[in-house]
Amino acid sequence: MSNTIVKKNIQSLRGMNDILGEESLLFTYFIENAARIAKNYGFSYFETPILEETALFKRSVGESSDIVNKEMYQFIDKGKNDVCLRPEGTAGVVRSFVENKFDRAGGTYRWYYHGPMFRYERPQKGRLREFHQFGAEVFGISSVYEDANIIMMLKDILDFFKIGFKLQLNSLGCQTCMPPYRENLVKHLTNLKPELCEDCNKRILTNPIRVLDCKNDNCQRLLYNAPKITNNLCENCDTDFEKLKEILDFNGIAYEIDTNLVRGLDYYSQTAFEFTSSEIGAQSAIAGGGRYDKLVEFLGGRETPGIGFAIGIERLLELIKMNETNEEVIYLGALSDEALNTLTKIAGMKRKTNKVLIEYTPRGFGKHFKLAQKQNATIVSLIGENELKDGTIYTKNLITGEEKTIKVEEF
Ligand code: HAM
Repeated sequence: MSNTIVKKNIQSLRGMNDILGEESLLFTYFIENAARIAKNYGFSYFETPILEETALFKRSVGESSDIVNKEMYQFIDKGKNDVCLRPEGTAGVVRSFVENKFDRAGGTYRWYYHGPMFRYERPQKGRLREFHQFGAEVFGISSVYEDANIIMMLKDILDFFKIGFKLQLNSLGCQTCMPPYRENLVKHLTNLKPELCEDCNKRILTNPIRVLDCKNDNCQRLLYNAPKITNNLCENCDTDFEKLKEILDFNGIAYEIDTNLVRGLDYYSQTAFEFTSSEIGAQSAIAGGGRYDKLVEFLGGRETPGIGFAIGIERLLELIKMNETNEEVIYLGALSDEALNTLTKIAGMKRKTNKVLIEYTPRGFGKHFKLAQKQNATIVSLIGENELKDGTIYTKNLITGEEKTIKVEEF
């Protein structure tokens, strides 16, 4: 008897998905339209490598953050370099900004990007190990009008896809007001130590403001009387925060102040925000961002203000309905072989402006309709014997139900 080796089929890694079928249609629909809106706001496309030096994320996202502490895909490459699959996009964009001396050139820069990010988290609904972000970063503008502009752009993107959201807003202060606030907070938290959870006890030492967004209900109850950063802002941060609220109010953008919104990345100062949805379960944040005026300097560049956001694409796609893509898809079919040549000509012409699917196997009327629906076509156009003789084409709009037989030239 010969030895047979049973080979197990190779599967994708846990928390890492293929993007295919309906999701791939939605994915490209999202990118195309989000990019269009970003371009309308003056942003241009920017791409950085997926792999970066580990030190970049340690220095920017922060050594005490969960991302750096627990979630990095970090390894030593063949050249003995300590590298890491990017867990987020901002750090790479800032690295490139400094490396390419944009900080020295001065001026204003608005860039958008999209691509895969990697975090070794416990996978669950809405939480992946490889996920995709659509992000935007602005450099060189300290005006709070830009904070409002970024929030309005994000809102426009979500509105375009008819996504309901809640906007949560906070100010994390600056180097003048954050250190005394932090000290004050630590004093308050130290008294609560025995009752706070184990993680919070560690955070008091490493990054006390992260205690504020602990998900433990008991900790949240204990924090009720904790000092609030928004009551401890310096004059400059307070004026900016009030102005931001005024601009959002003026533009009819609803928000909630969440003084416990601290974000999980260490580089933020002043404005911090998150867009959440109640329709996607526990992982409710669809986008988040804020100002990072010290990050360029921190990564070795000249002090340059920065602000940005990132949308979690997979979470967002959960909220976009297929029938909202508004994409016109023409399905072309023949009832006999003789009509196929004509169909190739029509397809060639229509493809200059439309998405066209062509079926090469002649079939009956009903079968063509079934196939067309399966492929999400919105218009079914068929040529049978009579149409071929008359130089016409039968067409039905599957959305409105309208049917007509028209001359091929009019099609
Ligand atoms: P973030 O809040 O860590 O911010 O991520 C932004 C979004 O990415 C989240 O709101 C969420 O929708 C999505 N996301 C995060 N982790 C996962 C995951 N494991 N699975 C699926 N989706 C996820 C940043 O990354 C900052 N770089 C944003 C930014 C840009 N701030 C300034 N500029």
